[in-house]
Amino acid sequence: MHSFHYHDGQLRCEGVDLAALAAEHGTPLYVYSAQTIRDHFRRLDAALAGVDHLICYAVKANSNLAVLDLLTRERAGFDIVSAGELFRVLKAGGKPECCTFAGVGKTRPEIEYALRQGILSFNVESEAELEMINAVASDLNRRAPVALRVNPDVAAGGHKYISTGKSENKFGVGLDRAFEVYRAASQMTHIRVRGLQMHIGSQITEAGPFAQAVEKVAPVAAELKREYGIEFFSVGGGLGIVYKSSLQSGQETWWDQAAGDPAPSLTVEQYAEAIVPTLAPLGLRILLEPGRFMVGNAGVLLTTVQYLKSSDSGKKFVIVDAGMNDLIRPALYQGYHEVVPVREPSPTDRREAADVVGPVCESGDFFAQARELPPLRQGELVALMSAGAYGFTMASNYNSRPLAAEVMVQGDQAQVVRERQALGDLIHGEKTLAS
Ligand code: LLP
Repeated sequence: MHSFHYHDGQLRCEGVDLAALAAEHGTPLYVYSAQTIRDHFRRLDAALAGVDHLICYAVKANSNLAVLDLLTRERAGFDIVSAGELFRVLKAGGKPECCTFAGVGKTRPEIEYALRQGILSFNVESEAELEMINAVASDLNRRAPVALRVNPDVAAGGHKYISTGKSENKFGVGLDRAFEVYRAASQMTHIRVRGLQMHIGSQITEAGPFAQAVEKVAPVAAELKREYGIEFFSVGGGLGIVYKSSLQSGQETWWDQAAGDPAPSLTVEQYAEAIVPTLAPLGLRILLEPGRFMVGNAGVLLTTVQYLKSSDSGKKFVIVDAGMNDLIRPALYQGYHEVVPVREPSPTDRREAADVVGPVCESGDFFAQARELPPLRQGELVALMSAGAYGFTMASNYNSRPLAAEVMVQGDQAQVVRERQALGDLIHGEKTLAS
């Protein structure tokens, strides 16, 4: 099945014409390919066949109910970071006993909610948090399942905001302190020690850091299994994807050919080869928490060219109707997204450098800078590619812009899986002064 490709000169998602979707639902519009998400889940699952494992999809990457529903049907578990994400997973039919709860700042109400639902594990990030979980569990007369997040002190990940495995980050406890914390945990009356967890960063496009971190932590996992009978080791997420790719007619998937990307993506097979040989002898259940890999290449943000403009210095701007409030990755992490016209450009079209910018009143509101693009006309549709992960979930109402609609495509069918916000939604719950 093709996911994003040109057909008769028009960009399609699976069997659905993107221009037709834009005409029906307006822009900006997120469009997801169900087939791509399924395919990525299955490929990762198959690559890990050598170990007993559970893929706990990191909900923060894309938490739309339809995405969670689809992955529930694939028998995925979920990695959540808030009560809200757990609520979404349960609404989508996910099972609480397949959910791990991560994050450095879990609140008492969140811990209570997760305990009552019966989650698989709290991934604990500090001793203070461990004590809080013990206290809440004691109040509820339950034993809380926990895994300690250790920080392997391995450098990995693209941007400094998304690297998490170095000791100067706020995440986890140092490997050298792990045994001390497990000892304390094992003496707490309402804690049940179940596992060990780590996560080194995001958008990692080489096998080395994964192999290094697993090799560093595996001996600790083995020792903890002997001493405390831990059952699982979660190796976190972080598997990178291709953001830079050229789209050519007849290509199977648009990201098949990494175009000039200094770090072409790691395949799931290479990823598995880097970690499975070290993990398999442990005899532990292996948990993984991929987010971006599962949904990143499965989504695009469709937007319409509003105006073309040239500055006095001759710089060209393509002003589109999506803004940094819809997709903040370029502004926040210098994230790169391909800008692909929905109408297939001719190979002879002369390319010209332009900035693709949104309508938000900030200079940081751009999607591409000095990008060589085929000629674009006012009213023309473009797709911002690989926007399925950390796109909609990081969207906001900044500038009082309603949140975009989301559509899921399956074969030649398309379904609105989130309606576009109306103006009234913008003031939901707000009040003017009473006096
Ligand atoms: N597990 C933990 C504990 C995490 O903190 C994260 C992501 C994941 C799993 C999933 O990582 P992934 O497989 O998606 O790389 N908003 C940023 C990415 C932030 C990642 C935060 N943590 C971006 O748009 O690039």
